[in-house]
Amino acid sequence: MKKRVLSGIRATGRLHLGNYLGAVKGMIALQNDPDYETFYMVADLHSINTPYNPNIFQNNIKEVVLDYLSAGIDPEKSTVFIQSSVPEHVELSYLFSTVLTVARMLHLPTYKDKIKEDAENANMAMLYYPVLMASDILIYKANAVPVGDDQLPHLEVAREVARKMNERYGMDFPEPQQFKSEGHNVPSLRGEGKMSKSVEGSYINLTDDPETIKDKLASVATDSGKGPTLPAGGGIPVLLTLIELFEGKEKRKNYESNYLNGGIKYSELKSELAKAIFNELVPIQEKRKELEGKPEYINKVISDGDEKARKIAQETLKEVKEKMGIL
Ligand code: TRP
Repeated sequence: MKKRVLSGIRATGRLHLGNYLGAVKGMIALQNDPDYETFYMVADLHSINTPYNPNIFQNNIKEVVLDYLSAGIDPEKSTVFIQSSVPEHVELSYLFSTVLTVARMLHLPTYKDKIKEDAENANMAMLYYPVLMASDILIYKANAVPVGDDQLPHLEVAREVARKMNERYGMDFPEPQQFKSEGHNVPSLRGEGKMSKSVEGSYINLTDDPETIKDKLASVATDSGKGPTLPAGGGIPVLLTLIELFEGKEKRKNYESNYLNGGIKYSELKSELAKAIFNELVPIQEKRKELEGKPEYINKVISDGDEKARKIAQETLKEVKEKMGIL
């Protein structure tokens, strides 16, 4: 039997390089591997626990689907769907919440960060986030989950739910594992943390043109370009990581040795890197333009995907309800 893969991206805006390298590239690799059956959703229900605009929300959801398809997710190979179109996720998540303690949820680093940032607005949906995510994954009995490292604590919750449901109710949930792609953890352009939609100036969008990419790279902090050791923090490691990702390991090594002997010219380094990044984005941007002209096709992809996902989700939910004695 094929192994199942499930992943999702929140509908909070355009995808950036961090999403692309951290998750979408891995999603595409799995889709093209005949050993796997892939399910890729837009996590719309996971997007409304932070402030959002309901009037443009449907549009944001479509944008993610467009980004998926332009980046190379192929609806002939993958089931592309919208989380809220499969309400079984929510129903199953409630059943799952009975095997998780509040204390366990309160201790998750993702939730703790929210409390630290803005305790007053830490809502129930935030606390519940990992429960719903466990349901997203387990409802398809997925084994592999291509997500960034920041999602590991949530995956751990999904594994715990799987174990408990198997022990208590005789379910056969696999314990899902992270599927790591090469570029997981793309650094923020600001030199601290990872590339993130919520940090202004930290990211390059998949739709950025060469000038925008150049300007964004220009803002990465640099130094004199030489020294006895490579700097461990700040902008230089960010540039070196991006060089490795877009121009290869060799290129990175060259720059490193230039830094230690003679020096680096950042204007050249940045303009080369901007070109390399843009080159990778060209086919994605072309595909996007093409798809933007075919809204009916996009709607059909989504409704087909929703239907396929719902069928499987209904089966799992029924099985769980029977085992739990509520059906
Ligand atoms: N929490 C994920 C993120 O922020 C999005 C997500 C929701 C997800 N449900 C999922 C990812 C299920 C993988 C599997 O990136």
